[in-house]
Order: sequence, then C-alpha cells, then structure tokens
Amino acid sequence: MYCNKPQKLFARESYVTSFSGRVVVITGAGSGIGRALALSLAKEGAHLCLIGRTASKLEAVRREILAGRGKADAFPCDVSQKGEVETAYQKIQGTVGVPYALFLNAGIGEAGIVQNFNVEAARRVFDVNFFGVLNWMHYALPDLQKTNEGMIVAVSSLFAYKGFPGIAAYCASKAALMSFFESARVDLKATRIRLVTVFPLFVETDMSGYDASRSRWIWSSAEAAAEKILRQIQRGKNVVVFPRRFYALMLFLRGIPDGLYVRLWRWASPGT
Ligand SMILES: NC(=O)c1ccc[n+]([C@@H]2O[C@H](COP(=O)([O-])OP(=O)(O)OC[C@H]3O[C@@H](n4cnc5c(N)ncnc54)[C@H](OP(=O)(O)O)[C@@H]3O)[C@@H](O)[C@H]2O)c1
Repeated sequence: MYCNKPQKLFARESYVTSFSGRVVVITGAGSGIGRALALSLAKEGAHLCLIGRTASKLEAVRREILAGRGKADAFPCDVSQKGEVETAYQKIQGTVGVPYALFLNAGIGEAGIVQNFNVEAARRVFDVNFFGVLNWMHYALPDLQKTNEGMIVAVSSLFAYKGFPGIAAYCASKAALMSFFESARVDLKATRIRLVTVFPLFVETDMSGYDASRSRWIWSSAEAAAEKILRQIQRGKNVVVFPRRFYALMLFLRGIPDGLYVRLWRWASPGT
C-alpha cells in the first residue's frame, strides 16, 4: 500500500520527481512537443528512448541530445501497431532498461470527416491517439506495477472538453483518453504509479498549423509547453492544463445547453 493512514481529503501529496538517470520513453519524439520534451528531459539527465514512425526525425533529435552530452536511443515504431510496440518495448528493456516514465504524446489530427463520412479515417485517429497510448500501457504497466513506481503521461488536448466542428474524431479520441485516465488513476490509487494527463492548446507545431506570420498572443512554443509540462509534473500535478484561460472557456462551453452551442457556431460562422 502507498499509505495506510487515513488521508485528508484535500491534502496534497508531496512528490519529488527527478528524471536523472531514469529511462524515459517519449512517443512522437521526432517533432513538436515530443521533441521539446526529449531535449528538456535529456538536460535533466534522463536516458531517452525516442519513438516515432520517421527514423530520420528521431535520428536528428538523438544527435541533438548526444551533442549536448545527453543519452538517447531511437526506436522507430508505429504506436498504433501493437506488434511494433511490443518489439520496441522489448528492445528498450534489453538494451537500455525498464522505463521509469513514458510520455505518450504521439498523435494525429484530422481533416473533417463528418460531411464526407469515413469510419476508417475516424478509426485511424483512435488507433493512434487512443489505442497508441493503451498499446504502450499494455507492455509498460505490468513492469511499473512490479517496482511500484514510475509514471505514464498521456498528452490529450483541451479539445477533450468540448466537441469542436471539423475535428469530431480528434475531439472524441482525446476525450476518450481523458476519461480512461480519470478511471485508471482511481484504479491505481493504492500504488505509487502516477498517471498524468496533459491538456494543451495552441502550441506552435506542425500539427496545429501554426503560422508565424499570423503570430498571436495565445500561442506558446513547443519548448515553453515542454517546460510547463515538466514543471507541473514535478510540482505533483496529475492534470496539466494550458493555457488556463482556454480551460475556463472549455468548461463554460461544456456547461451550456447544446442548442445554444450550435446557435453560437451559426452566429460565429454563418453560411458554413
Ligand atoms: N500543437 C498543439 O497545439 C496541440 C494541442 C493539443 C494537443 N496536442 C497534442 O500534442 C501531441 C503532440 O503533437 P504536436 O503538436 O507536437 O504535433 P507534431 O509535431 O505533429 O507531433 C506529432 C508526433 O507524433 C508522431 N506520430 C504520429 N503518428 C504516429 C504513429 N502512428 N506512431 C508513432 N508516432 C506517430 C509524429 O511523428 P511521425 O510522423 O514520424 O510518426 C510526430 O512526431 C499530439 O498528441 C497532439 O494531439 C497538440
């Protein structure tokens, strides 16, 4: 048992999370938030296991880490393919060691599948964004349970809180991840394994379609996002949300009647 004393309901648990000397897996490590997380964690002394489909992108990040005297290895793998995840996990165990932390960040967006309905496209979004996380948990969780320590960090999105037009499957996949982790966190409450969910929005990456020429105050760099994620995790937060003002907006939208939500969109985008 993690603690056999009765816990105060509102007491904050104290966590000191050092990644130094730890084996850390990052999926989607070849670009964007995953790349920035990998570079930050390497500076903290972690041994990075870089996961993604494109070997050349992983190799570029690996070289950047080695140039900074950090430790990293690349394991090209499609997270939606359970067999590939199993092979990558076994290679990591055999060559680097059992992971202490997994940042399950790989994800894909969507180009509006409702009007031209395509169930296969929706399934693909879930296969990567939702089952891509569960595939890694399938292999890693039993090992974390044996040592009763470590953490799994899933990168969801603030779009998990409300369905937005044009990205129905994306929102649904991120909401599924949110609910899954809410349940699993309670299921694992008696252990020292941390489950963290990250809900970002407006991070300057390939996926978000960030356009530097139209830079606005709402955007944050991938590096700033990675710093925020790591600092919040080290402060003991299991739910990391940013930017805060959009979190408030999402909670507001979540709470309004559905008819009003549709009317708001009719008003905001007439004729579409
Ligand atoms: N940017 C934002 O504003 C924002 C907001 C909310 C949430 N997020 C979430 O943050 C995460 C990272 O996204 P990002 O913004 O950093 O975008 P990104 O630069 O496009 O990164 C996504 C990464 O996932 C990898 N990936 C995609 N499919 C994969 C697969 N099947 N197997 C293994 N790797 C795969 C990609 O590499 P390969 O193509 O080489 O595989 C890529 O490196 C995503 O889960 C995204 O949903 C981003």
